[in-house]
Amino acid sequence: MSIHLIVLAAGEGSRMESDHPKVLHEIAGAPMIAHALGVADTLEVSARVVVVGHGGDTVRAAVLNLDEDIRVFEQPEQLGTAHAVSMAAPAFKDATGDAVVLYGDTPFIRPETLTAMADARKNGADIVVLGFNAADPARYGRLITDGNTLTRIVEWKDATKAERAITLCNSGVIMAEAATLLRLSATVGNDNAAGEYYLTDIVELGHAEGLTAKVVTCSEAETLGINTRADLAVAEAVFQANARHEAMVNGVTLQAPDSVYFSYDTHIGRDAIVEPNVIFAPGVTVESGATIRAFSHLEGCHVGSGAVVGPYARLRPGAELSNNVKIGNFVEVKNAQIGDGAKVNHLSYIGDAEVGADTNIGAGTITCNYDGVFKHKTIIGKRVFIGSNTMLVAPITIGDEAMTATGTIVTRDVPDGDMAIGRHRQENKTGLARRLFQKLRAAKAAVKKG
Ligand code: UD1
Ligand code: CA
Repeated sequence: MSIHLIVLAAGEGSRMESDHPKVLHEIAGAPMIAHALGVADTLEVSARVVVVGHGGDTVRAAVLNLDEDIRVFEQPEQLGTAHAVSMAAPAFKDATGDAVVLYGDTPFIRPETLTAMADARKNGADIVVLGFNAADPARYGRLITDGNTLTRIVEWKDATKAERAITLCNSGVIMAEAATLLRLSATVGNDNAAGEYYLTDIVELGHAEGLTAKVVTCSEAETLGINTRADLAVAEAVFQANARHEAMVNGVTLQAPDSVYFSYDTHIGRDAIVEPNVIFAPGVTVESGATIRAFSHLEGCHVGSGAVVGPYARLRPGAELSNNVKIGNFVEVKNAQIGDGAKVNHLSYIGDAEVGADTNIGAGTITCNYDGVFKHKTIIGKRVFIGSNTMLVAPITIGDEAMTATGTIVTRDVPDGDMAIGRHRQENKTGLARRLFQKLRAAKAAVKKG
């Protein structure tokens, strides 16, 4: 199936109470319109077109940022869904094949559903409308059928009492030959209760010409539209429930699925184990057999197979953990490659760094990568032992099999095999502690008496 996608995103209709366009509010780390356009990842799509509202520059920029091949058209005034479709006409001048209309605020239409609609087209329907049986049909448009033919769609505002009693509702998704869709959209009038050019009217217009329209149905959850922050939270929950289920189907152990949050692009390999309360922000890949322990936060990073991360670890963008790496509690890694089998187990910050294979980074180590203006790099070789509480003042290079003594502030490169010690030599004052304790305890007793 090769099809043109038209995503409508011009209308306000939003009660988000926000300074930002509705379709840019995020679900699982991606703008909701990116989810709507996401069907193009699995289906063969010949073109993607988005219709934005007047001054829709931020939406345009966000859409082009997703893919600069997407064509964006402006609908200067929101005169209705048919009018919005007409705005995209220049994209379809010589287009052959079908087009489908989606809404930017309806993010969960599945590729399988569009395929079912395409099948209905192949089986002879000129226009295919996606419907659903609404638990509460509220103000949705109602689908008027005659046998298994769709004859008309009536908007709630224009419906009679009998029509409002119908529970088969319009999702808004419509598929037809691109030329038919554009032609009929251009001919609908606005003589209705809302004074709008309704895309839904193309069914009745088509019917009058002898074209046939059919309904394909999907679950109500799939047509979930977002108008409020509460709807957004519901959409997020729906996404997460699906993502958790999918991860488990793909062989990932989730000890407490409801407490794990995925992004739209999270990839986790087979036999990985994810403990409770883990967050995968965008851009994370975890290879098979890795373990992500409780309360870890991962973003823009890659975790090699057999690696163990956390509990309480933070992997920031550019963290690349090779196989069998160990990142322990209260460790932050940013823009750093950690070689096979290396360990950073406790209370450390490794940023803008390379750490060689089998190196051990002691507790409390910091790569001092920032001088207030520039970021600098730390390079640590293979099989190095970095003592606890080492400050690595970048730019700095530590050679293979070198060591740093605990508490060292490393400001000069350390050659292979050398030991860096940079700290004050210790002195013991004989009996001083005992004398000091006596003095302090006496002072405390005097305060209590008085
Ligand atoms: C629309 C359908 C209704 C269906 C419902 C499902 C029509 C006439 N009605 O009603 O049958 O049950 O969706 O949610 O199509 N838009 C524009 N430009 C416009 C108007 C709308 O781009 O001038 C976009 C909106 O951004 C939105 C979509 O089209 O993404 C739907 O518009 P909306 O005003 O929400 O339509 P509904 O009244 O909900
Ligand atoms: Ca709506």
